[in-house]
Amino acid sequence: MRQAGRYLPEYRALKQVHGFLKMVRTPELATEVTLQPLRRYPLDAAILFSDILVIPEAMGQPYSFRDKGGIAMEFRLDSPEAIRRLTPEAVPERLGYVGDAIRLICREVGDEKMVLGFAGSPWTLATYMVEGGSSADFKHLKHLFFTDRENFEALMERITAAVIRLLLLQIEAGVDAVQIFDSWGSACPGAHYKRMSLCWIEKIIAALPPQFPVIVFAKNMSHHADALVATGARALSIDASVNLPELRRLVPETVALQGNLESVLLELPPPVVQAETHAFLSSMRGARGHIMNLGHGITPQARPESVEALLNTVVGFH
Ligand code: CP3
Repeated sequence: MRQAGRYLPEYRALKQVHGFLKMVRTPELATEVTLQPLRRYPLDAAILFSDILVIPEAMGQPYSFRDKGGIAMEFRLDSPEAIRRLTPEAVPERLGYVGDAIRLICREVGDEKMVLGFAGSPWTLATYMVEGGSSADFKHLKHLFFTDRENFEALMERITAAVIRLLLLQIEAGVDAVQIFDSWGSACPGAHYKRMSLCWIEKIIAALPPQFPVIVFAKNMSHHADALVATGARALSIDASVNLPELRRLVPETVALQGNLESVLLELPPPVVQAETHAFLSSMRGARGHIMNLGHGITPQARPESVEALLNTVVGFH
């Protein structure tokens, strides 16, 4: 996931004029950024251009970007009152622009290609909301979990309700599948991973239409594959640290695995990308339920010609 972005000159040009947040909030601009990679490459799916942090913003906690990189929330949630002021019920109205963008994207891409929606997991969103932005240690949120379970759960219930509303809005607008990003699940101690993160993802999946395809990306947590499968996910998105052919043998074939080529390869010359992609696809030969993807998003330093080499190798692989 993350196929749009700074590696494309046409993205940088549009961002220079409008800025990131305006592109996210303006359906025509979000549609344009979504379509940029599809105009260049033979991709199977359009990924809605948006951000996981539109949810805290819609609940009353705006965000911006730090000058040196990373996220800054306007304030941090530092009291039970701040948690109770969050407004999950405002999501459908405040995020109406997401539905508008999806309808435009679906019209543009037609029936040939999939359109993917997404949201952050409650735990991952809570890290930004409770820490006040990007964080190295997630201490405030962990303290909340271990010392004040009632308010931890009050917070997670609000975020979960907001994520459900956003995903239902995306599904009604026409997405073919949704991905839930648990980008910071690996901060959870293993014994508490379910209570801290997975149980909320499970609640979200249970609230969506039965059998609707949900992909769960639990970065660096594939050693919890059984618990991830138990959330009801139809596919797991796997980071690059994992030996995918081995994991494919362990996870039931009814659950697809998406991934997991190293993103940094796309910063290297096309022949390297071609050779590594071919070797990876060969290692997965015969495996059922594999969705070719990177292990994480495309980096700003990726070379457009190397992305092209990747996709041509995938399309031409037999
Ligand atoms: O194809 C696509 O572009 C899909 C859209 C998409 C974005 N963010 C757009 C974006 C998706 C799926 C996301 C998810 C997202 N956003 C996650 C989970 C995925 C992951 O990477 O683990 C997270 C944690 C966020 C929050 C966020 N947004 C971060 C940490 C950043 C980077 C901040 C920085 O220091 O640059 C963003 C910005 C962002 N969201 C960009 C894009 C294309 C980069 C903006 C830019 O550099 O112009």
